[in-house]
Amino acid sequence: MKNHELHDNWEKTWSNSSNHNITVLGRYLLRRKQQTLARIVKRLKVSNAIDVGCGLGYSLEVLSKIRIDAVGIDASNTAVEYCRKRGMRVTRKLLEDEKKRYDLVFSDGLLEHFLNFSDYVTHLGRISKKYIIIAQTDHEVPITRLLLLLESLIRPGMNMYEYNFRMKDYITAFANHGFNIKLTEGVFFNGFKFLVFEREEIL
Ligand SMILES: C[S@@+](CC[C@H](N)C(=O)[O-])C[C@H]1O[C@@H](n2cnc3c(N)ncnc32)[C@H](O)[C@@H]1O
Repeated sequence: MKNHELHDNWEKTWSNSSNHNITVLGRYLLRRKQQTLARIVKRLKVSNAIDVGCGLGYSLEVLSKIRIDAVGIDASNTAVEYCRKRGMRVTRKLLEDEKKRYDLVFSDGLLEHFLNFSDYVTHLGRISKKYIIIAQTDHEVPITRLLLLLESLIRPGMNMYEYNFRMKDYITAFANHGFNIKLTEGVFFNGFKFLVFEREEIL
């Protein structure tokens, strides 16, 4: 799928979503992810952050609550409008066009949608002064396989296509761009991972 088609699909997803299309399990997972993100970021020395592909702002809310000076960018107008109405500092912008640099660059659910995800790693690295955190589904874990199978049976075609890159693919790609893995933290029987990368020069 071409990038502009992907952006159109996200726009449709956000503008058609009633109650955000989140299942009960999805809400539970979201809560656990928010708690984990807060715990991880509190341990890092960062004062400002950007959430790339912030969607409806679930992670941005967390960053702001723990007093990080956080902004978000997203390709979708609907998502941006939704966040702005709730007082979040979000701009309609592509990662590729972001010029500023931040102590922490965070992104949840972005890279797995791009076959050429390494190009996006380049951009995440370019705008990060110290840390990058990505949140990714781990397709190698049995609970994830089971949930994806159930989802394909119960809600076929509801989710955007994801490539099943391995965690080691992400770790290698970031290392090739000068960011070393500092911490991996699993959520929900390790089905979902937070990968924390640190810029090589400050090690
Ligand atoms: C899976 S959603 C993740 C939303 C949010 N991070 C979350 O976890 O709820 C991916 C988001 O990335 C946005 N996006 C896709 N490509 C982008 C790009 N190149 N730059 C900025 N945002 C992008 C989409 O519009 C979509 O809202």
